[in-house]
Amino acid sequence: MSENLVAHISAVDAKRRSIIKNQRPIVIWLTGLSGAGKSSIANALEIALCNDGRHTYLLDGDNVRLGLCHDLGFSDNDRVENIRRISEVAKLFIDAGLIVITAFISPFLRDRALAREVIGTENFVEVFIDTPLNECERRDPKGLYKKARQGLIKNFTGIDSAYEAPENPQIRINTLEDDLQNAAQRIVDYINEQTMK
Ligand code: ADX
Repeated sequence: MSENLVAHISAVDAKRRSIIKNQRPIVIWLTGLSGAGKSSIANALEIALCNDGRHTYLLDGDNVRLGLCHDLGFSDNDRVENIRRISEVAKLFIDAGLIVITAFISPFLRDRALAREVIGTENFVEVFIDTPLNECERRDPKGLYKKARQGLIKNFTGIDSAYEAPENPQIRINTLEDDLQNAAQRIVDYINEQTMK
């Protein structure tokens, strides 16, 4: 399919965009079960970064699935394609010089490894929002676990679709111990450490 395509080199490059923004672009990749707290932490993190004058963009599962990925469902194949598209978008935003926060279940180890590869391992920080299934189900903010248990939703992550937890995330947030602000601050501290190097 790509045999007749030739990559175009932009006159303005990633380095120049990053220098104008006075920041090193990076992707903060949040992964965890539905209801684990990814979106809430992602929002708190984006606010904290913007307060520090950073240029950010937040890619969030539900929002992206209403637009770019509206044709995708929750079969294994569709989830793979969802994460592939997000990885490519995040890569473009890295090129644009942004600090990108992604909040997707991204349940499969292999797809997160591919995301790291596409984005570049030096630009990729994996954050495991480690909330146990029984706690996500107790919180059930969207009422989806209840529906999944009733069999009204098929292929629900943690119920009848797998979640493969990260083996070596750079940051692990235990939402039973860390509140929202602490969680966001831990990630900010890590980014500052990484991007000052
Ligand atoms: S992913 O697996 O492809 O990474 P993504 O993060 O985009 O998933 O979307 C997950 C969100 O979709 C959940 O937070 C939930 O609101 C909704 N959702 C609807 N059906 C399902 C399902 N079968 N499994 C998981 N999440 C679902």
